[in-house]
Amino acid sequence: MFAGDVTWYSEIGSTNDVALRLAERGAADGTVVGADRQTAGRGRQGRAWSSPPGAGLYVSAILRPSAAIAPLLTIAAGVSVAEGIREATGLTTDLKWPNDVYAGGRKVAGILAESGMSDARLNHVVLGFGINVNRANYPPEVAARATSIEHELGRPIDRGLVLASCLSALTVRYRQLQMAPHAVLDAWRSYAVSMLNRRVECTVGLRSVAGVAEDIDERGALVVRVGDETVHVISGEVVWR
Ligand code: BTN
Repeated sequence: MFAGDVTWYSEIGSTNDVALRLAERGAADGTVVGADRQTAGRGRQGRAWSSPPGAGLYVSAILRPSAAIAPLLTIAAGVSVAEGIREATGLTTDLKWPNDVYAGGRKVAGILAESGMSDARLNHVVLGFGINVNRANYPPEVAARATSIEHELGRPIDRGLVLASCLSALTVRYRQLQMAPHAVLDAWRSYAVSMLNRRVECTVGLRSVAGVAEDIDERGALVVRVGDETVHVISGEVVWR
């Protein structure tokens, strides 16, 4: 589904920005934009995404999901990256809600999902993947928290293989969302085993709650036990303890 329309740049500001513009102009479900380097890569919560040349994958995919499955897209994307990395390299990763991918206790990939309206009826979602494939000179504040697949496995990794495996996994999981969304949620849980039942602090708007992350619900929200109360966090910033 992602092989038909791929545009690759040697350098671009942000692949998500390009993909969002293409989607607004009507680009089809499955259109992909990638780059060897981003000069204005964006992460979640307004953060920058360090995107040094040739070391990582910086890729955005345009999707046009039905309203029913749109909330679960980021969950499906996290599963697809974990599966794609494992299929291409053998590295097992952990998922942290909503969709951070960890290896050896450090972040190896992140996903930025952004949505918009193409016309009065047709919504689009851009899924942006940033995957640290090979070693690179990251700024010190990033290097302290990040790892790469190469660092974890001790050998250089073929970026193209990782990309193909992740997009292939996304094709399967995107279709599965339409037929059997519970299977996608269960797959996410299987990659998040080491993160669930851990203490978390969640900031949701102006409110902050601390508790134990127990599960995700059928909308993909994080279920947090706060004393006798159960809080469903749909979006927000989560710090894992
Ligand atoms: C995160 O904060 O964890 C999400 C990072 C997402 C980075 C990717 S790289 C490709 C795409 N283009 C961007 O500007 N951001 C996403």
